[in-house]
Amino acid sequence: MESAVAASPAVIKVAAICGSLRKASFNRGLLRSAVEISQQSANGMRIELIDVSPLPMINTDLEVDGRFPPAVEAFRQKVLEADSILFASPEYNYSVAPPLKNAIDWASRPPNVWAGKAAAIVSAGGSFGGGRAQYHLRQIGVFVDLHFINKPEFVLNVFQPPTKFDGEGNLVDPEAKERLKQVLQALHRFTLQLQGQ
Ligand SMILES: Cc1cc2nc3c(=O)[nH]c(=O)nc-3n(C[C@H](O)[C@H](O)[C@H](O)COP(=O)(O)O)c2cc1C
Repeated sequence: MESAVAASPAVIKVAAICGSLRKASFNRGLLRSAVEISQQSANGMRIELIDVSPLPMINTDLEVDGRFPPAVEAFRQKVLEADSILFASPEYNYSVAPPLKNAIDWASRPPNVWAGKAAAIVSAGGSFGGGRAQYHLRQIGVFVDLHFINKPEFVLNVFQPPTKFDGEGNLVDPEAKERLKQVLQALHRFTLQLQGQ
């Protein structure tokens, strides 16, 4: 058996969400690499990158007659349609970056579209590789009813040799790619388990 991702006939739909808006974001690079890995593994997951940059800053005054602004409606729909979520969470001042928290907040408005979904977190950053933000994100997940895989944890120190990303933010480190693959396999298994498959 090459991998759990490759072995299972069930294809899950994964919404991949990055908390950085930076063009050459390392965290978005992790998600692009996850897409590539899932495609190479041939089946098991369909990962779609969801852009959070069109979302307005959370303001419940923008909710009118039970409707959200169009960009928010579109984002919520993408989350709703996904079987599970792959977050790439940069660490800003030891916590979750504002674009990601904003996206989570919008999708948590009733009806909370995160509820009951499996999720995994990856991050790239300074010394702890974004690990502290990951634990804050797990805490947020308690309230919005996301179910995170516990292991493997994936943090990546961008500044430690060898080089992890190229100039455009593409992941180039084979060891990190292998670890990322293991996260995807665990997310795949856990998603099916949660769905009773
Ligand atoms: C406002 C701000 C605060 C930051 N705080 C932290 C931090 O607490 N811990 C850390 O490891 N890196 C911190 N960083 C560095 C980011 O993790 C680093 O720039 C990372 O590359 C950002 O992710 P991105 O490449 O996906 O944009 C901070 C960066 C910014 C802009």
